[in-house]
Amino acid sequence: MLDQHETEKLLTAAREAMSHAYSPYSGIQVGAALMDSDGGIHAGCNVENSSYSLTICAERNAAFQAVARGARGFKGMVVVSDTAEVQSPCGACRQVLWEFNPDLPIVFFSGGRTRTYLLSELLPQAFSLIEEEDTVDG
Ligand code: THU
Repeated sequence: MLDQHETEKLLTAAREAMSHAYSPYSGIQVGAALMDSDGGIHAGCNVENSSYSLTICAERNAAFQAVARGARGFKGMVVVSDTAEVQSPCGACRQVLWEFNPDLPIVFFSGGRTRTYLLSELLPQAFSLIEEEDTVDG
């Protein structure tokens, strides 16, 4: 689980990333920040495209940033959006995050509210090619 200090650091990084969102079509801005097992922070925003289905969510952008920097063992994620209601990660992002930590805690700040999720609750019975005895901490 993330402690309060870690959550605040991730919130700052997620807000900074959110300010870079490219979302001319939906107008929705999202920022996500992920902490790795060494305390490193990796952030991402949503990036939309004229070919709508090519849009990437903030959560997957942050996860891919982390992996590209060699980080593994995700410890927790904070997500911020400027939506009126408190949100949760989309199905595609759940599956991508599950690959690296099926029990990832995810704290969502939106609509003036905060909600904490465990990925294992959001995505039970995930698709997996990983053998039970293998870890993803490699
Ligand atoms: N979006 C995210 O970045 N994260 C979510 O958890 C859900 C949706 C983005 C994708 C798109 O740019 C916009 O929000 C509207 O769907």
